[in-house]
Amino acid sequence: MALEILKLNAPKVEQPDHIKRLIEEARLRIDSFVEGRGDHPLAGFVPSDFDEVYDMLCRLAMDRDGCFVEWGAGFGVATMLAASLGFDAQGIEIQGDLVAEAERLAKDFEIDAEFVVASYVPAEAQELIDFTEGPDWLEPGGQNGHDLLDIDPADIDIVFAYPWPGESEVIEAIFERLCSPGALLFTWNNLEGMKIMRHRNQFR
Ligand SMILES: C[S@@+](CC[C@H](N)C(=O)[O-])C[C@H]1O[C@@H](n2cnc3c(N)ncnc32)[C@H](O)[C@@H]1O
Repeated sequence: MALEILKLNAPKVEQPDHIKRLIEEARLRIDSFVEGRGDHPLAGFVPSDFDEVYDMLCRLAMDRDGCFVEWGAGFGVATMLAASLGFDAQGIEIQGDLVAEAERLAKDFEIDAEFVVASYVPAEAQELIDFTEGPDWLEPGGQNGHDLLDIDPADIDIVFAYPWPGESEVIEAIFERLCSPGALLFTWNNLEGMKIMRHRNQFR
């Protein structure tokens, strides 16, 4: 197993006002965005729990800095929270309307974070999501997001992702393939909550 699970406690943090406002505004915009999509096939956009994500980012920022990338960034809130804590933060999202919302939110809150409409799964790792059965919420194809951001995934310090049910193993396999020993994979979903894994082998 190339990933080691870290048992990290993330105490509840008293959020500064600008973070409270960001999270509150993001939730309002997400609600109206989802409502506005109506019966669009991609209507079911589900964000992570931003309060819990912020708590863990504060914990990680105690002994880490550097490059943070959100894989499947949605509204980009985790990316913005990481940027506000001093990470060099960017998000890759395959749906253009979500990236437009992330960019608008970052601009309105004057947060320095970059987003691209692209895939976090490069061509050489597409076979990892090539299922006959399994998750179909992880979109295949798309431009290479790391290339567009001019980031070598081997230089990423922290990846954040919200894996849908059944998707965790795929995201972990992509992280093992692309990232370097020492890098962290931080995931959140509503079944497993938070999980922090450290890459410990050379698997490229
Ligand atoms: C569950 S949402 C999580 C959004 C955000 N990370 C959050 O925590 O609120 C997963 C996102 O991944 C995006 N996604 C799916 N496949 C992708 C791919 N190959 N590359 C980039 N984004 C992808 C979806 O469009 C969706 O917005």
